[in-house]
Amino acid sequence: MPQGEQKARESWGTRFGFIMAAAGSAIGLGNIWRFPYLTGMNGGGAFIVIYLGCVLFVGLSIMLGEFVVGRGTGLASVGAFKSRHRNWTFVGVLGVISSFFIYCFYPVVGGWAVAYMVKSLTGLLSNPGAIADYFGAFITAPLEPVIWTLIFLAVNLFVVAKGVSGGIELTSKILMPMLFGLLVIIIIKSLSLPGSGAGLTFLFKPDWSVVTGKTFLAALGQAFFSLSLGMGVMITYGSYLKKDEHLPSDALTVVSMDTLAAILAGIAIFPALFAFGVEPTAGTGLVFVVVPQVFAQMGGIGVLFSFVFFLALAIAALTSSVGLLETVVAYFMDEKGMSRKKATYISSAVTTVICILSSLSLGVMSGFSVFGVGVFDFFDILTDKIFLAIGGMCLAIYVGWVLNKEEVKLEATNRGALPFALFETWYAVIKYVIPVLVAVVAVSGIMAIEQQSLMIFGVVVIGVLALFSKKL
Ligand code: PHE
Repeated sequence: MPQGEQKARESWGTRFGFIMAAAGSAIGLGNIWRFPYLTGMNGGGAFIVIYLGCVLFVGLSIMLGEFVVGRGTGLASVGAFKSRHRNWTFVGVLGVISSFFIYCFYPVVGGWAVAYMVKSLTGLLSNPGAIADYFGAFITAPLEPVIWTLIFLAVNLFVVAKGVSGGIELTSKILMPMLFGLLVIIIIKSLSLPGSGAGLTFLFKPDWSVVTGKTFLAALGQAFFSLSLGMGVMITYGSYLKKDEHLPSDALTVVSMDTLAAILAGIAIFPALFAFGVEPTAGTGLVFVVVPQVFAQMGGIGVLFSFVFFLALAIAALTSSVGLLETVVAYFMDEKGMSRKKATYISSAVTTVICILSSLSLGVMSGFSVFGVGVFDFFDILTDKIFLAIGGMCLAIYVGWVLNKEEVKLEATNRGALPFALFETWYAVIKYVIPVLVAVVAVSGIMAIEQQSLMIFGVVVIGVLALFSKKL
């Protein structure tokens, strides 16, 4: 068991640095890409209200749970469970696998963001009518998107190789405030357009008639993904926390920042869409097709705003993907005793190959399928629809039913040194409410997966891990 490692363990330099890193992990493509299009497809304000409920009730509770588990043991995702309850090691392993899998497709989209940032300046917007076709041609090309993905991966490798405070923290401290600044610039422009008010109405006026069970499913799934929960990232980040950090207020700050970023992205995008009479329900193509079309209609200045927008998207993607890589790297360091550099290089080498396959699966390799879907979709569906929710549910059960309540309380209150008035409420929620709620949502989500063989594969993986937890 990797004890005695505590003394040499890296830690965050400052509270601000940690908050920026954790918020950096949370704020990502999920906020700027997924949140707006999910909102668009699910009835605007109604979706936002339900999403806020999921975030506050479920997301915040699980995030605090992950911090407690991570800092309590001072070990990353796998070790945090293994060192206490070997039967539960599989939850940590599932987390590392999820992070690894997400890191096998997320950087592809990160690469697109970097590409669009550069292309904004070099003529992407010169022909608004061609933007939709351009996106289709770009992501299916054999070489170009792969190159952008490699560039994006290289930056990740560089940041993670530099370590917790010298790499991840430093980068996040600079990039996160910048991201908020960039969003504000776009918002000012967006709101100044004539006719933009309709976008705000759409965002903030709930239309309950479109709400169905699926809306709740989408909202909870989005909360997990957006807050980086259920995949060991927040356990890993929590493991680098010093003992005097106040976990409940840190969790609240990170969750609030993530939610703010999502809402800001909505305010940046929807008023502009409505001002130019574009449908808000464009789905996944929203930020790479519809948004550039809107910028193109702004004339010359649109180029600048497009650049700013995709820079924000690239920043958001980067600070999230370093969290994924770090979770995998920390596993190798804690459990296999590897040095940071070696762990980073090995993880990067493997994931680079898979990312290339993911990118190619959208084009030349589209005929090749794993369990009925392409490589990119395989990783996306498996994590988003199965692993994250099950991981989050297991974490809640672990904190509520397996860990000793007193111990949890001591960790959450820094041995009683700091107040946490809502401890009993939080504990009851994580013990009784979340497992049931997430189970319902997870099961209905899993049942809704169209590719049966993929669904069965995902469930079997979790089952096998759980069965052999002691051996992991
Ligand atoms: N939270 C990130 C986002 O919203 C995605 C992510 C998921 C990052 C899991 C790290 C871990 O884009």
